[in-house]
Amino acid sequence: MRRKLVIGNWKMNGSLAANSVLLRGIVAGYAAKNADCGVCAPAPYLAQCQSELTGTPVAWGAQDVSAYAAGAYTGEVAASMLQDFGCRYVLCGHSERRAYHHETNEVVAQKVLAAHNAGLTPVVCVGETLAEREAGRTNIVVCAQLQAVLDVLEAAAVEKIVLAYEPVWAIGTGKTATPAMAQEVHAMLRKLVAERNPVAAANLQILYGGSMKPENARELLAQADIDGGLIGGAALKVADFLAIVHAA
Ligand code: G3H
Repeated sequence: MRRKLVIGNWKMNGSLAANSVLLRGIVAGYAAKNADCGVCAPAPYLAQCQSELTGTPVAWGAQDVSAYAAGAYTGEVAASMLQDFGCRYVLCGHSERRAYHHETNEVVAQKVLAAHNAGLTPVVCVGETLAEREAGRTNIVVCAQLQAVLDVLEAAAVEKIVLAYEPVWAIGTGKTATPAMAQEVHAMLRKLVAERNPVAAANLQILYGGSMKPENARELLAQADIDGGLIGGAALKVADFLAIVHAA
């Protein structure tokens, strides 16, 4: 039985004051027995997460990581630095990174490898655009995104990742994939992982992301292969985020 996992991706939102309210609210209200939860904050606030969340059941992580270990890469943040601030998770290949920062499948795979090598849990994000879905290319696109990651990881390392399926057309738009649509893609992704490592596939947590909110979370999370959520907008409100965590 896979444990559910709900991660809030704050994206480029927050301030010391606002984060403090959010983090304290989450810690105070978290009462899930079947679900773990975490937040992925902007890099400058990871020290604040560490200070507010250490010793609580709420984990924290970053939204991106450098593919490189150290050196002349101005503006980049290394996986070892995320470790220094107690991060458990790091998002790799979020669609906003792929779209606005031109991260290719190969770059994302190198970031996943760097995160894994540093002992972090990479949350590997995959998803198709609306044009790709309408062209019937969803499976091809998301399988290529995942395969690039599987190609660089040792079979055993596949047991240490989390996967997130986020249809790009559902992110921040209010449009959610139907539970059946999401389930179909999740099952296919799990099958692809099983070809590499069946044990990893059986244990792999595959999160759904894209306008998940309290009103639709329960039905999505009830699907056989949906093991949690990667939450954007709704993760910025304590009540909404906790409602999703508690629906899991
Ligand atoms: O990482 C989170 C996703 O991009 C989902 O964002 O819940 O605002 O649609 P959203």
